[in-house]
Amino acid sequence: MRIIIVSSAPLQAKPTPGLTGEDSLQYRVLGDLIGFPPDLARDADLLLLSGYPIDGRLVGALESCSAGAPHCAPVPVLAAPTPAQVVQLMQAGAADLVASLATADLDALIGRVRERLRRSALPADAVRSLGLVAAKGGDGATCIAANLAAALARCPATRVMAIDLSLPFGDLEIHLSGEQAQHDLADVLAQIERLDASLLDTLAHPVGEQLRVVASPADFQRFIDVRPALVERLLTLAGESYRFVVADLGTGTDPLTLSLLGRFDQLLMVTTPDIASLRRAAKVIRMWQSMGVDMARVGLVVNRVTARPEVPVARFAATLGLPVVREIADEPEGVSESLLEGAPVLVTAPASAFSRAIRRWAADLAGTHPIEESLWTSFKQLWRAA
Ligand SMILES: Nc1ncnc2c1ncn2[C@@H]1O[C@H](COP(=O)(O)OP(=O)(O)OP(=O)(O)O)[C@@H](O)[C@H]1O
Ligand SMILES: [Mg+2]
Repeated sequence: MRIIIVSSAPLQAKPTPGLTGEDSLQYRVLGDLIGFPPDLARDADLLLLSGYPIDGRLVGALESCSAGAPHCAPVPVLAAPTPAQVVQLMQAGAADLVASLATADLDALIGRVRERLRRSALPADAVRSLGLVAAKGGDGATCIAANLAAALARCPATRVMAIDLSLPFGDLEIHLSGEQAQHDLADVLAQIERLDASLLDTLAHPVGEQLRVVASPADFQRFIDVRPALVERLLTLAGESYRFVVADLGTGTDPLTLSLLGRFDQLLMVTTPDIASLRRAAKVIRMWQSMGVDMARVGLVVNRVTARPEVPVARFAATLGLPVVREIADEPEGVSESLLEGAPVLVTAPASAFSRAIRRWAADLAGTHPIEESLWTSFKQLWRAA
């Protein structure tokens, strides 16, 4: 990876991140960012901007990087930006933010950028991490994320981690399990320094043999401990030890989830086939576009489709310019039974169009044949869970 650190004054001490033989690290001093030369970004995969205040010059430099060198990740070095500033910088094209040039911060950042480069080199079908976002509250992101995770975990030798990042009041686990999770996201993040694959597996809530769930913090006080850098590390570790990571990202517009959008191989916007949802989806997509989110990774899931939808499904693809990855049928009975029983719809209504579509989708992702569930397999699962 080619790294360039641009600073407003010569650095007192040169940073010493862990680099491989194929990496290069260069330094440049630019007293002012007026007329920032885009050529600088063309020669870098990672360009750090250190010692600059958050103003129009920094925003202009980020914009010229993303226009002139889309492959390059421009990253401002800022100790304590406010959430509004984070959103502003990301809209201008910042690929990430880092608090300092200290070795630990730089190493974590370089790890994230390597992951990004790895993902951009992946073939389109190699999706391992999925982030689901609801176009508007109640469109079904949580229900779909939970059931997709459950269906993936039913594919042979496929371990799955479902993470609830719909903060502060996520409810992912109620779609999957009748038991309350003993540990939540805040507990997992509190252990991040010593977290490894086996501790993560122990702390996450087990749902059957192959699915683990990290529930959202149980109360608002604990939500304050959820910081983006820690969640990033959790996502990296989960990606290393599970075949799939499925995250519920809520409405995908808060500073935490905005900072994580680039972490997923695929981003799915869950909409319902109505005008309110289409309008809202268009706004969120415009926002993501302005922030430089790679739209090739974004797809639509039209949920609660009935025989006569208010807006035809094809209109979504045409209006939003994004593919409809899946259509999921309205399944009021199976879904409410699922919530009452604390079991996925795959169990409460295995033969429904909803469950068939979710199983087919999971099988396509995992590269297996869908497991058509008989009442008997569902019963066995219920029995095992009891
Ligand atoms: N395909 C479906 N058929 C019937 N009901 C559904 C379907 N999908 C979701 N629901 C129901 O719609 C309601 C909202 O779903 P869900 O909680 O998944 O939405 P959300 O987008 O996560 O909303 P929130 O903003 O509350 O996080 C729930 O009661 C859910 O069970
Ligand atoms: Mg939700």
